[in-house]
Amino acid sequence: MTDKQYLLSPSILSADFTKLGDQIKQAEDAGADWIHIDVMDGHFVPNISMGPFIVEACRRVTELPLDVHLMITEPERYLEDFASAGADYLTVHIETCPEMADTQAQIHSLGCKAGITLNPDTGADQIRPYLSTADLVLVMSVQPGFSGQSFKPEVLGKIAQIRTMLDELHPEVQIEVDGGINPQTILEAYQQGARIFVAASAIFKHPDGIQAGIQSLVKQLPS
Ligand code: DX5
Ligand code: ZN
Repeated sequence: MTDKQYLLSPSILSADFTKLGDQIKQAEDAGADWIHIDVMDGHFVPNISMGPFIVEACRRVTELPLDVHLMITEPERYLEDFASAGADYLTVHIETCPEMADTQAQIHSLGCKAGITLNPDTGADQIRPYLSTADLVLVMSVQPGFSGQSFKPEVLGKIAQIRTMLDELHPEVQIEVDGGINPQTILEAYQQGARIFVAASAIFKHPDGIQAGIQSLVKQLPS
């Protein structure tokens, strides 16, 4: 974390891919801290999105950290490809990693930060054994697979629960929240202890443009 109280990680899942470089630059100029890249395989989630080629393209247009969210089965098979493409954070689902400690070690050996994430219906106790070796905890606030869904308020308690666990086990690690973030839900998640916010549609589909989308979110948070 920098001296800011929060970080914003716009998800390019809702970007216009005919002008991806320009849209990433707009987000960066408007104050984006990271760029979130949603990788979906049509197997772990019912949608197919993007892979290492897009990460590599993003790497060429921005120096912001690339926050790569792997919604894929057997992510271990592809970690090296995403690391080579320029990912900074590689975040994997507890539901897809039966040997999470080994997966985290593999991510670290590739020179990346290891994020751990869990679906809305997965309990926080499932990730507890891996918090002390994680660099980031991503709490999914929608069922992964699509942008534009509504935030599930039932995850608010889980954010607070994981924050308490981290305070005990690994206090410097921050919680990122992903799914349905808008000017109302960003504040609710912040109040429970989240400090890194992913948003796709609220930024890239904002009727007044990307800068307005980012402003609508950050103005809710303490500066
Ligand atoms: C959902 C993805 C999210 C998604 C968020 O599976 O992991 O990152 O892009 O989209 P919004 O912000 O529109 O809910
Ligand atoms: Zn995501």
